[in-house]
Amino acid sequence: MKDVFILGIESSCDETSCSIVKNGNEEIATVISSQIDIHKKYGGVVPEIASREHVKNITIVIEECLNEANMKMEDIDAIAVTYGPGLIGSLLIGLEAAKTLAHIYQKPLIPVHHIAGHIYANNLVKDMKFPLLALVISGGHTELVYMPEHLKFEKLGGTLDDAVGECYDKVARVIGIPYPGGPEIDRMAHLGNNSYNLPLPLNDDSYNFSFSGLKSAVINLNHNEEQKGHIVNKMDLATSFQHVVVEIISKKVLKAIKDKDIKYFIAAGGVAANRGIREALSNICENAKIEYTFPAIKYCTDNAAMIAAAGYYYYINGKISSLVINAKSSDTLK
Ligand code: KG4
Ligand code: ZN
Repeated sequence: MKDVFILGIESSCDETSCSIVKNGNEEIATVISSQIDIHKKYGGVVPEIASREHVKNITIVIEECLNEANMKMEDIDAIAVTYGPGLIGSLLIGLEAAKTLAHIYQKPLIPVHHIAGHIYANNLVKDMKFPLLALVISGGHTELVYMPEHLKFEKLGGTLDDAVGECYDKVARVIGIPYPGGPEIDRMAHLGNNSYNLPLPLNDDSYNFSFSGLKSAVINLNHNEEQKGHIVNKMDLATSFQHVVVEIISKKVLKAIKDKDIKYFIAAGGVAANRGIREALSNICENAKIEYTFPAIKYCTDNAAMIAAAGYYYYINGKISSLVINAKSSDTLK
């Protein structure tokens, strides 16, 4: 069979990225331009600034990617792009770029759901096997998804309030760590003691999660200690917080693995880079004797390689869009 080269574009939040992936599982080249340093001083992503930065970066990132791959647009079979969910202004920049390329070069346009992209980052590690259970944990999402086959997504549960990454970033802010604080909390969590008592959130039999109560518990604990004139041990607070996150995620994943008789597990999204969560999930899978993969650390956070990988499966299944498609700030994965 002829090789299929998909050019992917991702711009749903604060990363402008372009990637070329062969046959859905082989990365040829990826360029990611991150805006983290720009948003850091505001303590989070400022949507208007993000859109403007995407405008500045998008053509540069696409050109760099083609150069790195030593390919021309003529060598590309189709263009995959994140259409949603995400920041509407940011999404529109990537989508318009993709539509323009599709029109000029007469290539099929493939809209990809951002969460599907995160999941397919695992296909770049090893071809995914079905049925599988996917845990998507990022700055904007916390979801448990059952996939009986390629491109079939059944949501088992998700967060009822804050996403786990959002909770990490807010707890980091309380501790005095700049945005995005998730990676630093993870580092600190390996250095302290689990000495603070925090509640296990939504500790029930559902597949849902709730992180806003945990965030408030950390804020209150910090505040109360300060009022008493005590110095909060930041390492211990990070350790105690991560301990609770790992415990509740492990509990819900284990339940889904048992209930659904899962044989293959994957994690995805920015928080899937977390060392504590990876260790716990690896142990669960090894004890349950099931196969599992995590994306490479650099492909846990937003990137276009995952969009191109997912795009391949949409492409070979004929899921091609007309150029009138619009971006969607929210959209369920289906
Ligand atoms: O997937 P992503 O780039 O954005 C969304 O699609 O939402 O994820 C970004 C999130 C941020 O909240 C960041 O703090 C978190 O992933 N993150 C981590 C780690 N690395 C990134 N959270 C916990 N531990 C980490 N090691
Ligand atoms: Zn993401």
